Amino acid sequence: MKVIEVDLGDRTYPVIVGDGARHELAEVVPRGARRAAVITQEAIPVEVDPGIEHRVFTVPDGELAKTLGVVEDVCQQLARWGMTRADVIVAVGGGVVTDVAGFCAAVYHRGIRFVSVATTLLGQIDAAIGGKTGVNLPEGKNLVGAFWQPSAVICDTATLATLPPREYRSGLGELAKYHFLGGDDLAGLGQADRVARCVQIKADVVAADEREGGRRAILNYGHTLAHALETAADFDLRHGEAVAVGLVYAAEVAVRLGRIDEARVHEHRRVVGGYDLPATLPPGSEPAALVELFARDKKAVDGLTLVLDGPDGVEPVAGIDPAVLHAAAEALRS
Ligand code: GLY
Repeated sequence: MKVIEVDLGDRTYPVIVGDGARHELAEVVPRGARRAAVITQEAIPVEVDPGIEHRVFTVPDGELAKTLGVVEDVCQQLARWGMTRADVIVAVGGGVVTDVAGFCAAVYHRGIRFVSVATTLLGQIDAAIGGKTGVNLPEGKNLVGAFWQPSAVICDTATLATLPPREYRSGLGELAKYHFLGGDDLAGLGQADRVARCVQIKADVVAADEREGGRRAILNYGHTLAHALETAADFDLRHGEAVAVGLVYAAEVAVRLGRIDEARVHEHRRVVGGYDLPATLPPGSEPAALVELFARDKKAVDGLTLVLDGPDGVEPVAGIDPAVLHAAAEALRS
């Protein structure tokens, strides 16, 4: 097993990565907890043993789980069961479960401890680490939430074999992102090693900027166009697939700004293509309409800001000429 620490002072926590890592759960359940509420989804075929009295609570499948109504329902069930602030929530699932269970942990009794057992690639290399929790509103995704760090995270790479192929491929979109955040040739590593490498990169970023005051924004590399594609919603694209297109888009913007050369753009296309992920806009999409959606992105702090590659690595770049954004989007027409 590999153990990576997310260094947050007295809230530092371990991320345990490896084949069969879920069997370490009882070791990381916080001391003093008498009961564990295991929050998961029906479709997740992963069983865990927290080593203390526990009950399983399921939330609806997919994004349907990410509502305040589900949070209220779970918290009511925890109250009826007599969960106290000394007890623990164990989230078992992907990004959706982490978001909902983590948010329940943040607000139940003004905050109880939680451990995340991430069962998807996207959960293991992104969602489960860093303490972002929350739910959607009809007005938009992730509009209500809290930063609430887990006590420990478990990334059992054996569970990745249970994923539907498209879910796994979606995770590869986030993996592709880490190639450009210092991961370099992740494709050449074995499964546990590359998950551990991504976890290390994310852990370092979160430790440097827990609440996204600056550097943490680099984790959104490729996400501006991805969010626009997801908001436009007419396309059959998973999050990671949209991120893959967004990475190539960010490279096309960066080369037009003279921040990177054509070889680096090619590198983006090679990495994304190497994971069999899309590098062009979905058929029927309108580049101009997608660029219009950028201004609505939650991360847009100073007009049109994008996270871009450049001589000093990946960083947020403000005040980009809309003509460049449009030209780069045109370059991605399928
Ligand atoms: N998924 C981006 C972050 O955790 O900051």
